[in-house]
Amino acid sequence: MTASATAVAPNPLREGLRLARAPRPTTLVLFGGSGDLARRKLLPALYNLALQRLLPAAFAVVSAARRPMSDEEFRDEVHDAVAQHSRTRPINEDVWSTFAQHLRFVATPDDAGYDRLAGELQRVDAEVGADGNRLFYLATPPAAYAPIIRAIGAHGLRGPGSSRVVVEKPFGHDLRSATELSRIVHEVFREDEVFRIDHYLGKETVQNVLVLRFANGIFEPIWNRQYVDHVQITVAETLGIEERAEYYDAAGAMRDIVQNHLLQLLALVAMEPPAAFDDRAVRDEKVKVLRALRPIGPEEAPAHTARGQYGPGYIEGRAVAGYRSEAGIAPASGTETFVALKCFVDNWRWEGIPFYLRTGKRLPKRSTEIAVRFRVAPHRIFTREAEGVEANELVLRIQPDEGISLTFGAKVPVQGFRIRSVNMDFVYGASFMVDAPDAYETLIVDAMRGDATLFTRRDEVEQQWAFVDPILAAWARGEPPLGTYPAGSWGPDEADALVRRDGRVWRKA
Ligand code: BG6
Repeated sequence: MTASATAVAPNPLREGLRLARAPRPTTLVLFGGSGDLARRKLLPALYNLALQRLLPAAFAVVSAARRPMSDEEFRDEVHDAVAQHSRTRPINEDVWSTFAQHLRFVATPDDAGYDRLAGELQRVDAEVGADGNRLFYLATPPAAYAPIIRAIGAHGLRGPGSSRVVVEKPFGHDLRSATELSRIVHEVFREDEVFRIDHYLGKETVQNVLVLRFANGIFEPIWNRQYVDHVQITVAETLGIEERAEYYDAAGAMRDIVQNHLLQLLALVAMEPPAAFDDRAVRDEKVKVLRALRPIGPEEAPAHTARGQYGPGYIEGRAVAGYRSEAGIAPASGTETFVALKCFVDNWRWEGIPFYLRTGKRLPKRSTEIAVRFRVAPHRIFTREAEGVEANELVLRIQPDEGISLTFGAKVPVQGFRIRSVNMDFVYGASFMVDAPDAYETLIVDAMRGDATLFTRRDEVEQQWAFVDPILAAWARGEPPLGTYPAGSWGPDEADALVRRDGRVWRKA
C-alpha cells in the first residue's frame, strides 16, 4: 500500500513558511570560501535560499581567505560553484545578479588583512543595513579554526548586533582536542553563539525522526525494550575518498561518520521525548542518551567492534582502486574505511537492546537507514504456515529513496493460511510535491535565526568523543585487527560475524 497525502496547496503555506523562518539582516563572514565544502554545499545553498527568497533583504556574504582575489573573481568562482553544484539548475540569472551584488572578498593573509576585514564589515553594515548582525562561518581545514577565532576576537570583528559562529566538522580529533577547541571558541563566543554543524541534522528525513516519534501517538508506547528486538543504523556510501586523502587518512570512518552522524542518529532514535521542541530540551535529551552509551574499552572492542579497509573491486560495474592505491594514501595505511559497532544504551527504556551501527565507503549502494526490528508475536497460532515470516520492522529511509516502511505478515490470497511479509510504504516524493531543501539551506537559515536545535552542543560533541576514543585506543593496539573487503561488497567478514554471534544478520539495505 502506498500512503498518499494530498499535495500541499503551494502559495499560502509556502508564504507562511517564508515569513516564519525569515532571518534577521545578517552579514555572513565566510572563511574557506574557495574550499571544497563551500563550493559543493554552502555557496549553492546560499544561492538556493536567495532563489526561494529565504535570505533577509539586508544580506551580504564577505568571504575571507589568505590568497588575494577581487570581488569580481570571487563572484565568478561562486557562479561556477553554483552552476556545477546547485540542486536547482540552470541558474536563474535575475536572482543571481541580485545575489552576486552582495558577495565581497577580503584577503586576510596577516593582521593588516583582518583590520581591512573589520573595515569592510562596517562598510557592508552601512550599505546593506545588516544592523551589525554577523554570522561567522568556519569552513576551512580544522587547523585554521583556532587562529581565525582568535583573530575575530583580536581585531574586533564581532559586530554591534548579534554575533554567531558556525564551526564545521570535524570538531576536534579526540576528546582532549575538542575540549581545547571549545575553550578557544569560548574566548570569543558564548556557547549559545556557537553552532557546531552536523549536517545530518539538517536533512529533512532526519528531522522527521523526531516528528515520527513525537508527533504521533502510536509509536511511542512500543518504542522500548518490551517491543523492540534491536535497532540497525546504516550509513553506506559507494563513494571512495574523492580528493580528500589527507583529511580522510587521518580521520578514518570512525571520526568521519561514527563520531558524529551515526551517534546523532542513534541519539535521535533512543532519546526520551523532550518537553518542548527547542534547542535546550532536545539537546538535553540527546546528551542523556550519549552519556548512557555503555563504554566499549579494550575488553569489549574485539566482540563489539569490527573495522575494515576496502581493496580493489567494482562499484556499479566499474573497476575501482583499493584504498591503499588511492592518490595520497600511504601504501601501508591502516586507516579504516568501514566500521561496525554493537552498542547498548544503558537506561530503563533500552536496557539489553543492541543498537548495531555500520558505515563504510565503497559499499555496493548508497543507503542511509534506521531499521527498528520488533519482537516476534508472543504466541504463534500459524506456526507451520508462517515459516519464513519476518518480525515486524519499521525502516526509516533517510536517503536516497526517502520514506518509511513497515513490514508485517499478510495472508497470501490462496486456499489455506500461507503468510508472507509485505510492506506498508510512505514515499516522500509521492506524498509531498515539493523538493526538499538541502540540509545546508536549513542549517544556514537556523544559524542566522539563532536557533541551535539542529546543531550539536559542546557536551554532546564531548560525549561523542568520550565514547569513540577508547575504541580507537583499542584499535591502535590491534584489537580487533583491521579486516579487508573488496570495494562493492558489504564490508569485512568480521562485520557479519559481529551480528551473527547474536543470531542476527544485517539488513539488506
Ligand atoms: C561527510 C563526510 O560528513 O558526510 C563524508 O565527511 C561523507 O565522508 C558525507 O561522504 C556524507 O554526507 P551525505 O550527506 O552525502 O550523506
